[in-house]
Amino acid sequence: MATHISERQTQFSYFDQLLRGPVWNGSKILDFGGNVGGFLVGAGDQVDHEDYWCLDLTQAALDQGRRNFPRANFVFYNRYSSYFNPNGVRNLPVPNLGLNFDIILAFSVFTHTHRKEMLELVEQLRSMLAAQGVIAFTFSDPSYDRSLSDPALPPGTGVISMFEWEQAKGPSPEIEGMAQTNHRTWCVEVDEKLYVEPGDEFCQQERWGKPEESYCSYFTADYMTSLFPGATVLPPVSPEWQHCCILKKTE
Ligand SMILES: C[S@@+](CC[C@H](N)C(=O)[O-])C[C@H]1O[C@@H](n2cnc3c(N)ncnc32)[C@H](O)[C@@H]1O
Repeated sequence: MATHISERQTQFSYFDQLLRGPVWNGSKILDFGGNVGGFLVGAGDQVDHEDYWCLDLTQAALDQGRRNFPRANFVFYNRYSSYFNPNGVRNLPVPNLGLNFDIILAFSVFTHTHRKEMLELVEQLRSMLAAQGVIAFTFSDPSYDRSLSDPALPPGTGVISMFEWEQAKGPSPEIEGMAQTNHRTWCVEVDEKLYVEPGDEFCQQERWGKPEESYCSYFTADYMTSLFPGATVLPPVSPEWQHCCILKKTE
């Protein structure tokens, strides 16, 4: 059984670069899906742990985060996810944490949700921002060559090759469309099967997924720009290969 403990520690450097060095000290920070709080490792003394909240579906990760960072705030969010929290509650709203946040971050969280769930959760998170607050969250663009920002990967690494495998297994017009530059929007991969632009019934909150099944979503940068008018959509910074979408409280 997967432990769902993340070892990533590059989140601070990633968001610091893409948000252009915001004033972290004194800012109230919500790390949505922050897991064990790897963000705090990279942050060093630039973030006061008492100003950091991590909201996550994985209890074991929160327990580890609390042990490592006893002054920070780790809060369980018992929302359903076939992969991360198969016994959770469907459509559970984001809890009110009793404060507004200056910076809300989510690294590799909406890479595991349907478009409908991402739109709903981002809207709820945005309502938790302070007046000048900003939310930044990552997404995975299927057409991005990950070797461009992760030199450890061979050139051409990315999800686009997945479309080619799928086409080889059995050609389909949807996958063909996703593979063509001017038709790319979004898709979901569930246990290695690809679904292009699936309907709302494919949202995890509305379907019965197998416990522990993997559920990954891919949105092109152009499509994210159309989903979130006014957003700044930026390419990845090394060594990460996820794009970033940045929104203010009001655009
Ligand atoms: C791939 S991990 C990334 C963890 C961490 N952000 C990092 O960069 O290492 C995804 C995390 O998001 C959490 N998660 C998934 N769906 C979520 C949701 N709807 N609300 C809050 N957390 C969620 C999972 O429990 C998991 O800890």
